[in-house]
Amino acid sequence: MKLETMKIVACMASSADGRIAYDIAAPYKALGSAEDLLWLRTIRDAAQAVVYGGSTFRAYPKLHAREDKTLPLLAHGIVTRAVDLEVSLPVDAPLWQAATDTEITIFTPVEIPMSQRQRYPKQLCWVTFTPDKPYPLQVCAYYQSKSVETLLIEGGGQMLYAFLQEKCLDTLFLTWCPLLLGGLQQPQMLLGEGFQFENAPRLKIESTRHVPSTDELFMTLSVQYPS
Ligand SMILES: NC(=O)c1ccc[n+]([C@@H]2O[C@H](COP(=O)([O-])OP(=O)(O)OC[C@H]3O[C@@H](n4cnc5c(N)ncnc54)[C@H](OP(=O)(O)O)[C@@H]3O)[C@@H](O)[C@H]2O)c1
Repeated sequence: MKLETMKIVACMASSADGRIAYDIAAPYKALGSAEDLLWLRTIRDAAQAVVYGGSTFRAYPKLHAREDKTLPLLAHGIVTRAVDLEVSLPVDAPLWQAATDTEITIFTPVEIPMSQRQRYPKQLCWVTFTPDKPYPLQVCAYYQSKSVETLLIEGGGQMLYAFLQEKCLDTLFLTWCPLLLGGLQQPQMLLGEGFQFENAPRLKIESTRHVPSTDELFMTLSVQYPS
């Protein structure tokens, strides 16, 4: 279980049937409206660091902007198995151009040789997971050691499941988008092996906001874990 002093939040826009992306072969297209993007940026403003899954990074390999431009840039982290580093982390990703101004940490389960690291900006931090602990706990410990108070997880279903499995997520900011996408291949809100009903994390509605112009519902949900 994570340490208690850091808050971990995730943010996701989902269709009514739990799909979180569409047309994934095309350049990134947001599922939510401009109002959703504004909400996302406001949530980022409350965080000091954002960590995202390799797959989400490849869909949107750019700096994650804040709403309040006077705030310091978010520290960025990317979690990747790095099976083929240059496929996982394309060397021409626009995010690297921000590497001089913000901390960018690459988390991998395998040690990346210096010869490969040299293809990326020298400011990147490289962290190798140890095999004794699930990776979400190691990501949390890393940011806790840097005195991060709020860590934002911007991942898809793989990452959300991994953090929930380790009881690491405190709050889910969920935008409910009023459409039905379906499709086995569409990225889904939660992947992994799934939870047994008895062990499934429960969500408590802390607040909701309905936007009539788009019919989106913005929900703040606290995550509770059966003991
Ligand atoms: N609607 C929304 O709000 C929203 C939000 C976020 C993402 N998305 C969409 O969701 C899709 C991606 O979701 P996803 O579930 O496929 O992936 P994801 O959760 O974004 O990323 C999971 C990534 O974690 C890495 N990983 C998995 N196990 C690991 C381990 N043991 N150690 C280190 N790294 C590990 C892998 O990176 P590698 O593949 O690099 O190995 C994997 O791709 C994209 O289409 C994105 O646009 C939508």
